[in-house]
Amino acid sequence: MAKMWAGRFKKETDRLVNEFNASVSVDSRLYREDIEGSMAHAAMLARQGIISEEDGEAIQAGLKSILKDMEEGKITLSPELYEDIHMANEQLLTERIGDAGKRLHTARSRNDQVALDMRLYVRKEIGEIISLVLQFMEVLCDQAADHLETVMPGYTHLQRAQPITFAHHLMAYANMFKRDVRRLEDCLEGMDEMPLGCGALAGTTYPIDREFVAKELGFSAVTDNSLDGVSDRDYCMELCSCLSILMVHLSRLSEEVVLWCSWEFKFAELDDAFSTGSSIMPQKKNPDVCELIRGKTGRVFGDLQTLLVMMKGLPLAYNKDMQEDKEAVFDAIDTVKICLKVFAPMFATMTVIPENMRAAAKKGFLNATDCADYLTKKGVPFRDAYKASGTLVAICIEKGETLDTLPLEVYRQVCPVFEEDVYRAVDLNACVRERKSLGGPAPEEVARQLEKIRGFLKEKEGKVFS
Ligand code: ARG
Repeated sequence: MAKMWAGRFKKETDRLVNEFNASVSVDSRLYREDIEGSMAHAAMLARQGIISEEDGEAIQAGLKSILKDMEEGKITLSPELYEDIHMANEQLLTERIGDAGKRLHTARSRNDQVALDMRLYVRKEIGEIISLVLQFMEVLCDQAADHLETVMPGYTHLQRAQPITFAHHLMAYANMFKRDVRRLEDCLEGMDEMPLGCGALAGTTYPIDREFVAKELGFSAVTDNSLDGVSDRDYCMELCSCLSILMVHLSRLSEEVVLWCSWEFKFAELDDAFSTGSSIMPQKKNPDVCELIRGKTGRVFGDLQTLLVMMKGLPLAYNKDMQEDKEAVFDAIDTVKICLKVFAPMFATMTVIPENMRAAAKKGFLNATDCADYLTKKGVPFRDAYKASGTLVAICIEKGETLDTLPLEVYRQVCPVFEEDVYRAVDLNACVRERKSLGGPAPEEVARQLEKIRGFLKEKEGKVFS
């Protein structure tokens, strides 16, 4: 079939080049945005008298009918017929309404068209991702509310360090996801500029009204430089950066769930519906969902890398390299969405085993700092107190005791300041209860953190992000 740009060419495009060049198999998912953008453009052309009222109306009706057929799956966008979604919609329109269809592309280029379509698409998807993150934060809050008093070991270097609660641990993640939401909102705000009207690169001689188009499509501004408007993919890189960081958080939590579900920890057990078995080992119950999320995290980083490398050497303005942006952006969006969708119910149905958390917290001398603090509060300089507590730990290890069971005489041999009340100070519950410094694990303090996150969620409730 003759190309839309056939005028200047004497030969048909090589079949391989056609295949190589075509992007419709990837960008067909922009069909809605492409039609929406074209409708706003045509409305503006008619309003400005650049095309006639009748042509304008024919275009609107034609595009509407294409959209309907697309939604109903009546149109197959094969790469043999169409180069990309923009060409496809224009060809289909011309088939349906004749010459008026050929007027749609007046004062427009595919360069500003694709820039617009991508922004419309990314904007919508960011909104959906934010909603998914917020839903997951609800899950975290609900789990946390049930475990304000569930003592567990807190770790550094994956070594038992100090006692915390499961709620405290979960609220750490809630804060990470809260920042993810803020980053995504910021990305959304930064990309709120409408590029149509930049033309191929140098604007147009037609008396277009870009502000009108921006308003029609719900943008609060237009891009301010036509070269920048067609070649800016910052928002794609920004989005993939936000998504990469979000995936880091999901991946870390996934890794923790993997650990918690191991027999070595057994702090939690996944619901059968969210675990998988082994083809050979009958006893196995595997946290595949978590492992896949951990694995797919690398994929999203890869998408970001694809964009960064793709853009870094491009001279202004549009270059065909940029067609590759879609696969990366779509993949990052799809991956993050499916990860959030499956992780939330998996986490919500996970059974926590508080006894095992507590048992683990009882071992490993998590109260050694509290033992030192006990002396410090009685006037012993912290460094001396630290040493005394360390000596007691060494004695405990040797004797197979814990700080809770070690006789008072032994305490007093190490430091005569110790008295009977040391047992209250090193009691696990007290160690958590007394850590009520702002941000700490004391149940009342974590309840405050939880309320703050819930307040944030309330503020976002019912809000449409896009
Ligand atoms: N399919 C192209 C893309 O996604 C559309 C823009 C084509 N522009 C051009 N000058 N060939 O980048």
